[in-house]
Amino acid sequence: MSLLNSGSRFLYDQVFDLVVGQIRAGSLQPGDRLPSLRRMSSQLKVSVATVMQGYVSLEQEGFIDAKPQSGYYVRLDSHDHTELPNPTTPQSIARDVRLEGLSQQMMALARSNLAVPLALANLAAELLPGKALCRILHRVANRDSARVLDYMDCQGDAELRRQIAYRASKQGVLVDPEQIIITNGATEALALSLRSLTKLGDTVAVESPAYFSLLQLIEEFGLKAVEIPSHPRDGLDVDQFEKVIKRLNVKALVCISNFNNPYGSLMPDKAKQRLVELANARDVRIIEDDIYGDLHFGTHRPRPISSFDQSGNVVTCSSFSKTLAPGFRVGWLIADRGRAEMLSRKYTVSIANSSITQMAVIEFLANGGYDRHLRNLRRRLQIHVMRMRNELAKTFPTGTRISEPQGGFVLWVELPGNVDVNKILERSLAQGISFLPGSLFTATGKYQNCMRISCGNSWTSEIQAGISRLAKTVLGCC
Ligand SMILES: Cc1ncc(COP(=O)(O)O)c(C=O)c1O
Repeated sequence: MSLLNSGSRFLYDQVFDLVVGQIRAGSLQPGDRLPSLRRMSSQLKVSVATVMQGYVSLEQEGFIDAKPQSGYYVRLDSHDHTELPNPTTPQSIARDVRLEGLSQQMMALARSNLAVPLALANLAAELLPGKALCRILHRVANRDSARVLDYMDCQGDAELRRQIAYRASKQGVLVDPEQIIITNGATEALALSLRSLTKLGDTVAVESPAYFSLLQLIEEFGLKAVEIPSHPRDGLDVDQFEKVIKRLNVKALVCISNFNNPYGSLMPDKAKQRLVELANARDVRIIEDDIYGDLHFGTHRPRPISSFDQSGNVVTCSSFSKTLAPGFRVGWLIADRGRAEMLSRKYTVSIANSSITQMAVIEFLANGGYDRHLRNLRRRLQIHVMRMRNELAKTFPTGTRISEPQGGFVLWVELPGNVDVNKILERSLAQGISFLPGSLFTATGKYQNCMRISCGNSWTSEIQAGISRLAKTVLGCC
């Protein structure tokens, strides 16, 4: 019997994953020779043809080179020895957030048509299942035009909520579809949760660096943010969180535990469990943003924080914006305590969500299209992220530190010395290259030497050339 999983991935994909995993873990180093086709086939108990197909994919994706009459070797330009960014150490005090002009800047970036757009955490159209979704949209519109044109129930389509509850159950969370509210993207889910669980002047804990739209919501609602030290691999520092909630009256924590934006971190299960215990003991509500959880590079989807909570303290927010279609604006929140208030606020501010996009998502989930698409997307993103990291490591100044996310598609880059990334951004925008400066991800004024790079585009020669130009600008400013 094969030693590989008999799960849903093809065996040759699993050969691919195995080797990539070994390269990432360092057990296969650049220049190392891979086992021969025959040897690997007998080790894994799969056919030589399967191993061959896996090796061909590895070669096509740039992980290995085939040398005639010699064998297969790990590519020499693998730069996995680049260090991770330093853990962050913000001063954990409750402060007002002021991100003047950020919305205008972000809208301008979204409208701009740059040759090398690395700023927004959006997937390029070719990574989205556009054709399949358009076909479904037509079908749905023809089949049920009256429903498509009408207001939908404020809480969202019952079948969509049932499907989201079913998916949550596979992640260890038992959810009644009644606990789900469909929202206009994860942003509305976060806004409704924050607004309903806090009052003006309350303090909200966030990871540092923090997702800038979350900081914007905190500012908008007149709340204070306390930034908690975080680690680029393991995320929120739970010991520091404990100290902060003993010292300050923190109403809620907002946390992106699975593939944080911008840090890329993934909290270990034990840390999630302890976080829930600490928060429950002090009555601190947890709002988790699990928008990147489906984009894991490893074999298992990481568990949401809510899967460790039995008390209804955790609200989970998410959407299909990072996997399917941000323009659909189909998101959701899963809440127990406080849900009635969230729903009534939703009714007040938006009455309902678009009907047709909910109906299209239902069909794509039900016909298995979403899971098939995810399998392909995860693999492509893993390659993009790895290539981008390699390229940055190869071209950026010595001493640059780069995150190494195990999912999602953003990289956090920490430049050496006292370089001002805003100056680099100004110059690179003039060359048609964008990224986000680290200072957007904090209310402390820190991270001036950091940048967030999105890997949501396909890897092309334009992107590669853009990175070389960006590296030159960085070197010129360091
Ligand atoms: C962590 C995180 N949460 C929420 C959002 C926004 O999601 P949506 O477009 O579904 O509102 C984003 C988009 O970048 C994000 O990165």
